Amino acid sequence: MAVLNILQTGDETLRKVSEPVDSFDLNLANLLNDMRETLKDAKGAGLAAVQVGVLKRVFIVDVEDGYYEFINPKILGTSGSQYGAEGCLSVKGKWGDVKRPKKVTVLAKDRYGKEFKVVAKDFFAKAICHEYDHLDGILYTDKADNLRDE
Ligand code: CO
Repeated sequence: MAVLNILQTGDETLRKVSEPVDSFDLNLANLLNDMRETLKDAKGAGLAAVQVGVLKRVFIVDVEDGYYEFINPKILGTSGSQYGAEGCLSVKGKWGDVKRPKKVTVLAKDRYGKEFKVVAKDFFAKAICHEYDHLDGILYTDKADNLRDE
């Protein structure tokens, strides 16, 4: 396992749309293991593959509800709303307020290609929405109010 370099805003890779994963192989497992170590090292709540330069529809979230790996995720539904501060490991030293759904239902695959569904609320839902946006080249700063320094 290795701690990977996290791309910073201004890098055009962060603006690209990631491609679905079609091989649930050792490369994917290695990527996920490295991403988990990178996230832990950076003390973050979530990380998308594009942030480490891999344009695959993969993200991980590590929150109170647990550690989750999402591959080829689809948001099936959202409800309610929440508004609050967000940061991003690719936008160091900044915070901004973003409106997100209060609850999201997500269908995804795990590292073995097995489908699972998660109903996430509150911070977990916010983290999923933030990471999902990365897969489409969207940064939270595109949506944030009151963008400020740490
Ligand atoms: Co981010």
